[in-house]
Amino acid sequence: MCLSSAKKMATLQFKGKSPYEGVLSRKHDASDFKYERYTNFFTKDIGSSSPVCLALFGLGRAGSIHLSNIIASPRLNLRYIVEANKDLWEPAKARWNLKDTMFIHPDQVDTVYQDKALQACLIATPTFTHEGYILGSLGAGLAVFSEKPIAEDPRSTVRCYQKADQVGKPLFCAFNRRFDPAFASIRSKVRSGKVGHVQMIKTTSRDSPLPSLDYLKISGGIYHDCAVHDIDMITWVLGEYPTQVFSVATAEIPEIDGINDFDNVAITMKFPSGSIGMIDLCRFANYGYDQRLEVFGHEGMLHAQNDTPNKAEYCTADGSSQAPMYYSFPSRHADGYIRELEHFLDVVQNNEEMSVTDRMTAAVSKIADACEESARSGKPVQLNWTVQEIPKGYVQV
Ligand SMILES: NC(=O)c1ccc[n+]([C@@H]2O[C@H](COP(=O)([O-])OP(=O)(O)OC[C@H]3O[C@@H](n4cnc5c(N)ncnc54)[C@H](O)[C@@H]3O)[C@@H](O)[C@H]2O)c1
Repeated sequence: MCLSSAKKMATLQFKGKSPYEGVLSRKHDASDFKYERYTNFFTKDIGSSSPVCLALFGLGRAGSIHLSNIIASPRLNLRYIVEANKDLWEPAKARWNLKDTMFIHPDQVDTVYQDKALQACLIATPTFTHEGYILGSLGAGLAVFSEKPIAEDPRSTVRCYQKADQVGKPLFCAFNRRFDPAFASIRSKVRSGKVGHVQMIKTTSRDSPLPSLDYLKISGGIYHDCAVHDIDMITWVLGEYPTQVFSVATAEIPEIDGINDFDNVAITMKFPSGSIGMIDLCRFANYGYDQRLEVFGHEGMLHAQNDTPNKAEYCTADGSSQAPMYYSFPSRHADGYIRELEHFLDVVQNNEEMSVTDRMTAAVSKIADACEESARSGKPVQLNWTVQEIPKGYVQV
């Protein structure tokens, strides 16, 4: 027998049954959420609920991401767009073929609140307008999806949630990074003990492209506009709140210094269980939207690295390279934006428990305040927590 036939014979012993045996019981891995979504389009019973009638507030960077997801969802009927800049109306109408959607100027917002058929609002206007629109929408009996942060300071945030409680409607804060598949998978592994007790958890968040100065002037500042995402991520993964924070910050960019804000921030957080959190935050990275998460514990390390639009590799004698990482949040977090909207609809239609609660949002706002106070005073800030401030699923030892 020749050598090659002997090798074939040698592996023939491993030949199994026909792959058609049990073919119907084989399934994709649970992590393949895109396949799951594809399957659900055809098979999942979404109940007898008719589409949720929605008003979208704001057609800027965040609003346009939500607009495309709203239009793609069979679970939504977009009745209104409330947008202050009328120049955006016609292009949006034409581009998205919005024949049945009414465009409303903020002066006429009562038209939206008075529409009895409306069920929900999605607020993606500048942060300083959130509180007014949230209170108005809840007052009209509507469920609310609000872009982060809910409001500019902890007291306004509490006012919004008190209103939600009073009228018995959900107020969802869109911490979209929780819905990122890689970050969510890390959280679930940490919570099932895969790395043991967490010694160190780090996020890197460097923005791209550089936001406009007009945006930065009304953003609420880097702590409430950006650091809230990282603070929420770290505390959500750990399930506890820091008792001490320390932050240093600088303004590398003169124009940002000129508006009394920072563009370069480091935060450390000490947690009651002994874990340490670190945040590395910047308003601008010239190489793309740099988003990383790392968790280190006694049993191992978990990390989510940056993603690229494709995995093709270009090899030369000098080495190899890939496409640059995603340029910005609309592409990097495209999946997370879809998943957070699905979650909101599950809350509204199926009474699913809301994953981002009032206590979580208020705590994140309180920590962001403490971090900014630390950066401005140059001193660490201590934080005390009452039992009433700790959300379900979080433990404060
Ligand atoms: N989760 C995320 O990834 C993410 C990303 C970007 C922004 N955001 C949040 O989304 C919100 C909006 O930010 P943006 O970057 O889209 O801002 P933007 O400036 O790009 O867009 C805001 C839009 O709202 C319109 N507008 C302003 N005042 C209005 C009013 N009173 N009524 C109706 N429309 C009004 C503006 O004309 C503009 O079209 C902010 O709260 C921000 O923190 C979240």
